[in-house]
Amino acid sequence: MNAPWKAGGPHGRDAFHAYVCDDHSLEVLRAAAQDMGWPAEKLYKGGLRNAVQSLSMSASPNVLFVDLSESADPLTDINSLAEVCEPGTVVIAAGQVNDVRLYRDLVASGLQDYLLKPLSLETLRDTLNSAQAVFLAPKADAGSDQPHMMVSVIGTRGGVGASTIATSLAYLSSSRGKRSTALLDLDVHFGTGALALDLEPGRGLTDAVENPSRIDGLFIERAMVRASDTLAILSAEAPISQPLLTDGSAYFQLEEELRSAFEWTFVDLPRNMLVQHPHLVHESNAVVVVTEFTLASARDTIRILSWLKTNAPQSQVIVAVNKAQPGVSEITRKDFEQSIERAIDVVLPYDCKVTTQAAKLGKTAAESGRTSKLGQALHELSNQLNLAEAGEIAGKGKSSGSLIGRLLDVKLPGKAKKKAGANTVLTDV
Ligand SMILES: Nc1ncnc2c1ncn2[C@@H]1O[C@H](COP(=O)(O)OP(=O)(O)OP(=O)(O)O)[C@@H](O)[C@H]1O
Ligand SMILES: [Mg+2]
Repeated sequence: MNAPWKAGGPHGRDAFHAYVCDDHSLEVLRAAAQDMGWPAEKLYKGGLRNAVQSLSMSASPNVLFVDLSESADPLTDINSLAEVCEPGTVVIAAGQVNDVRLYRDLVASGLQDYLLKPLSLETLRDTLNSAQAVFLAPKADAGSDQPHMMVSVIGTRGGVGASTIATSLAYLSSSRGKRSTALLDLDVHFGTGALALDLEPGRGLTDAVENPSRIDGLFIERAMVRASDTLAILSAEAPISQPLLTDGSAYFQLEEELRSAFEWTFVDLPRNMLVQHPHLVHESNAVVVVTEFTLASARDTIRILSWLKTNAPQSQVIVAVNKAQPGVSEITRKDFEQSIERAIDVVLPYDCKVTTQAAKLGKTAAESGRTSKLGQALHELSNQLNLAEAGEIAGKGKSSGSLIGRLLDVKLPGKAKKKAGANTVLTDV
């Protein structure tokens, strides 16, 4: 799919496949494919499910058209498509639901465009032309002109789940988004990033703090511990008896090196670091503030949001409430939103089954609980970061004129101040 992935080699692939649910769409697609000069034999009846099944066994085309009409949960189904679709494929979908939130979420998941049914030949032709142009457009090489996305994850109180969320978001960026992703766990003495991924942290981070002059690209390559082809982590379990004497420049330098070595970096940033080293958020494109429905957390959310306004004015701030349990919170959502004077972006439910299973398997909550409500909320949070990234790029003029760029001008979370309660709700689609 096109948005989060980089194009691979276009050779040896079919130009076009389509999976549709009705005869009218099939006819319009046949006519449009012929106009494009594409062979019309790879047009199938069967919609998205069929597409996922076929593409798990065969090569993906350059441009893929899928009909979502028979899909009860388009967003989840599009995510399963992303898992079987090869990098570079430009995906267009069609359906009967006319909902800007669905459109926004689908685009954030990597879709090029979403057309409303019944299809018109003219619109379809234009869309296929744009899809082909996107497919043929030169792709930036990772690491050269590639814009980098740095996301800091900060818990408002101890144990709210900041590390659970940071590891899950890094996992989703690397596996679903197929981006080269770094996780920097700055909880040098008590960090759990490596533990969550069933890895030994190594000495990389402690070495870096002790000898900042050694930090360069080669050092990063050696010190990072690989969790997968696309995910690497830098963390430590520094001895409790050993205070780390640093002015924070080593951390900042690490962020700089990660910026050029990876496409996305997630920084698990303990909140006491904000006091000591405020410059660590100066380069963050987005900050996820993880909080919970308690009075103490509400107080510290207010304080941290205000601090971020001064110290990270460039960052898009996303407020995520974790461990939510209906009926047993100290403070209601309404009161919480009123006191922090903004809407919550995502609410993640309390689910100790998922987190316990994740800990036992040495996997992130997003991976081991992917079908649970908590897994879906983590997906939603990850989608909001994709939107934030798209906004970053649009803001720098790199995708001005694109549909998403225009849409984001009015819809970006955190860009415009949202009304309390007007956030995206997962079950909307
Ligand atoms: N949504 C959730 N439902 C149930 N348990 C959760 C949830 N999120 C996190 N937990 C659990 O809460 C505990 C603390 O989580 P985590 O270590 O991620 O928090 P933290 O904010 O990083 O803590 P610290 O302040 O120590 O850095 C862990 O046992 C984790 O499994
Ligand atoms: Mg933590």
